[in-house]
Amino acid sequence: MAQITDGVRAILSHPQIYTAFQLLMGSRKGRRNFVADFIKPFPGMGVLDIGCGPADILDFLPAVDYRGFDISESYIENAQKKFGARGTFFNKQLDDRDLVSLPKFDVALALGLIHHLDNAEASNVMRLARTALKPGGRLITIDPVLHPGQNPIARFLVHKDRGQNVRDRVGYETLAREVFDSVRVEVRHQTWIPYTHCMMECTVAG
Ligand SMILES: C[S@@+](CC[C@H](N)C(=O)[O-])C[C@H]1O[C@@H](n2cnc3c(N)ncnc32)[C@H](O)[C@@H]1O
Repeated sequence: MAQITDGVRAILSHPQIYTAFQLLMGSRKGRRNFVADFIKPFPGMGVLDIGCGPADILDFLPAVDYRGFDISESYIENAQKKFGARGTFFNKQLDDRDLVSLPKFDVALALGLIHHLDNAEASNVMRLARTALKPGGRLITIDPVLHPGQNPIARFLVHKDRGQNVRDRVGYETLAREVFDSVRVEVRHQTWIPYTHCMMECTVAG
């Protein structure tokens, strides 16, 4: 089983395969609903995407002022090739020094990131996001979640995720409440391929 999991990890590190897998796993309607209900984009919105991967979220956003950070060279190369001037892409882990030269953002995104991070790393990402945001700014997260009563196939798939730190709703929410002034949490069940996501809107007081 460990060999299969390692094989899947290696395959998904290829950006095009990762993007195709994401499209297969989540319906476009589900993504559009998530963007409308949580990101609430508007033209010119300042967006900081932490762990942006191939920046596929840009397919669902209008012309925003977008900066994406990711530690994967191949994902960032792919984002640059696909989206070019629609964003600025950085192949590095975001840190405090970056925030000195970056503008303040309306929204920070950590999409599919927190479940890859242990509690200390996740808290640090949330603290960086809070520092990067304008008053009233919001961090939006989405991650796989273990949830009572979820479809057994969804539970199986969530267990098999590449992330080593998949949490339950309370686990994600507790981390966010330590850093943000208000936190809205929602668990959504996907039916197309059964899967369960935890989505959070974490707000800095205005
Ligand atoms: C599941 S992917 C999500 C990618 C993208 N946000 C999306 O929604 O498709 C998780 C991403 O987090 C990146 N990552 C993991 N740890 C990171 C860190 N500490 N800083 C920045 N990126 C990180 C990985 O390289 C990977 O691209």
